[in-house]
Amino acid sequence: MSTGPVGVGFIGAGNISTQYLDNLTKFADVKVLFIADINLAAAEAQATKYGVPGFGTVEQLLAIDEVEIVVNLTIPAAHAEVGRQVIAAGKSVWSEKPWPSRPPTPRRSSPTRRPRACARRARPTPCWAPVSSPPSARSPAA
Ligand SMILES: NC(=O)c1ccc[n+]([C@@H]2O[C@H](COP(=O)([O-])OP(=O)(O)OC[C@H]3O[C@@H](n4cnc5c(N)ncnc54)[C@H](O)[C@@H]3O)[C@@H](O)[C@H]2O)c1
Repeated sequence: MSTGPVGVGFIGAGNISTQYLDNLTKFADVKVLFIADINLAAAEAQATKYGVPGFGTVEQLLAIDEVEIVVNLTIPAAHAEVGRQVIAAGKSVWSEKPWPSRPPTPRRSSPTRRPRACARRARPTPCWAPVSSPPSARSPAA
């Protein structure tokens, strides 16, 4: 972590990036260093407009040590994956809403997905049994 201005990178150079760049390029404590987008022309246009020194791909952005915080302004469907990439690169991430548009992986346990071993226990335990299950299915005799 640096002691000077915080290095910031952007992923996503669409509509809302204008509002972020209008503000973040004015703070003395923040230095916007790079704008990445799958649409390189969009990244270049915003970098030129706001005097940001670099633009390019997500991989290029994540390789810059001075970028400590990444502002994720991609589309909602890309938020989780992009956020994961940023964290894996050892950086902090700010993500636009929603984060994410849906859970990245299915939940491992829920009231309707009871582990089989639960039904085999001799004594009733706080199993993940659905309320509608018959008692025999929730706590069979030993
Ligand atoms: N537009 C608004 O007024 C507004 C307001 C509040 C919040 N938001 C949120 O901000 C986010 C961005 O909105 P926007 O209107 O700027 O969208 P946009 O579609 O104009 O811009 C998104 C940009 O992200 C890029 N992108 C998409 N997937 C990518 C990926 N995997 N890697 C790199 N770049 C990628 C696209 O090429 C595009 O340039 C959304 O989450 C939205 O919900 C938008």
